[in-house]
Amino acid sequence: MYSSFAQLKTDCLDCTDCPLADTRTQVVFGVGVEDAEVLFVGEGPGENEDLQGEPFVGRGGQLLDKYLEHIDLSRGKNIYIANIVKCRPPKNRDPREEEQAACEHWLREQMRLIHPKIIVCLGRIAAQKIIKPDFRVTKEHGVFFERKGFYLMGTYHPASLLRNPAQKGDALADFVLLRDKILQVCERTY
Ligand code: URA
Repeated sequence: MYSSFAQLKTDCLDCTDCPLADTRTQVVFGVGVEDAEVLFVGEGPGENEDLQGEPFVGRGGQLLDKYLEHIDLSRGKNIYIANIVKCRPPKNRDPREEEQAACEHWLREQMRLIHPKIIVCLGRIAAQKIIKPDFRVTKEHGVFFERKGFYLMGTYHPASLLRNPAQKGDALADFVLLRDKILQVCERTY
């Protein structure tokens, strides 16, 4: 268990716990405010993230930033963004179960130290790992699940919105629900 976020990051950047370490350019640890009340979790870095070392910096990331801005959130101001796996799976394939399992301890420590009130899962992989194994994004997006005093919600992955623009309205509505939940349960976000 870590007491320092900086030490956690330093160690994570050196991780060789799974074979993704062999093909990555950089570990993508996460970005944002280290005591954020709202934590976003994606699946794993893509090509741009692997090159730049920051989550959600490609086209999907730009879309995510637009949705965040719509409800007065930003990675520089009041949220944290991390991923289930910290290294890019080759050709952007889904991270394998064993890769997710090997990486899980980093996200667990991030969650313990950030101690968010709300966790938003971006896409199926994150929602199935964090909320429940049979989570269905199309059916359960925007629904808040309370667990031990904090709240979990899953919504569409930004890359999925780029492929299926018809889902964008539903995604935006999820962000509006998120704003309402923040106003209800968070004290420092706005
Ligand atoms: N997709 C993700 O799930 N995470 C990123 O950081 C980038 C793209």
